[in-house]
Amino acid sequence: SVAYFNGNFIESDEPALPIEERGHQFGDGVYEVMRIYNGVPFMLDEHLDRLYQSATAIKLPLQQDRESLKHTISELMDKSGLTNLVIYLQVTRGIASRDHLFPDCPVSVSMTAKPFREPPAEARENGVSVMLHPDERWENCYIKSLNLLPNILAKQAAYEKGCFEAILVRDGKVTEGTSSNVYMVKDGSILTTPLSNRILPGITRMAVKQIAGELHIPFVEAYFTPEDMLRADEVFITSTTSEIMPVVRINDEEINSGEPGPVARALYEQLKTMIQ
Ligand code: PDD
Repeated sequence: SVAYFNGNFIESDEPALPIEERGHQFGDGVYEVMRIYNGVPFMLDEHLDRLYQSATAIKLPLQQDRESLKHTISELMDKSGLTNLVIYLQVTRGIASRDHLFPDCPVSVSMTAKPFREPPAEARENGVSVMLHPDERWENCYIKSLNLLPNILAKQAAYEKGCFEAILVRDGKVTEGTSSNVYMVKDGSILTTPLSNRILPGITRMAVKQIAGELHIPFVEAYFTPEDMLRADEVFITSTTSEIMPVVRINDEEINSGEPGPVARALYEQLKTMIQ
């Protein structure tokens, strides 16, 4: 598949990165994962807003402006020959002799374009299992940082337990998934963790908030506990890659009837109307 690195379009399996690339040596950068549906990027401006916010938060001087990034994304999309794809975009502090201090060099921009791999239809139909895991991340989770070690360790632990996602818990409260935001439904209201430095402000979360408004479903941003989640009417998670995914089991305990609920279904159907 096709990729991009600092001005050049390449094959994604071609070696392109010098050893002293700071993304490689320090994880010194930020990223975005974006979805293209039928040739149309979904909420691209919101993703780019978040990219610039992440870059600013780590003092990374991303010179490429929005139009130039959009142009590269669209060129990459054309070269990929795909219409339904995922674009991964990564910006790092560049290529320089290894030193913790900020280098004086241009930032690196890389992208890949890959066909979108739908989550198994069975998962969406029957809902998925999740496990609880301590949130061992840093205090700046609103930054979409390349440093994902706690996320991948928790996700792998979930996978090894046959779970789709690990739900992270900090100070007794649910924060988010390793790569998703988390919601519960109780008495007709949607509850989700408030935006703060403890979670990533998900773009799909933004879409869900908007859709909930359109469907007149109360959208409450408040903390909840794993116990609240177990007693919920419904639980679901959202992300660019899983969209809206119903959760039916937490650590082997069933939520409600153990089946996906009507609120997640209604949100998902409305989301589909936004992207067609
Ligand atoms: N992850 N929370 C975390 C920690 C995430 O990494 C993600 C996305 C989300 C959901 O955000 P959005 O709706 O904007 O995709 C929440 C991407 C998909 C990834 O790392 O692959």
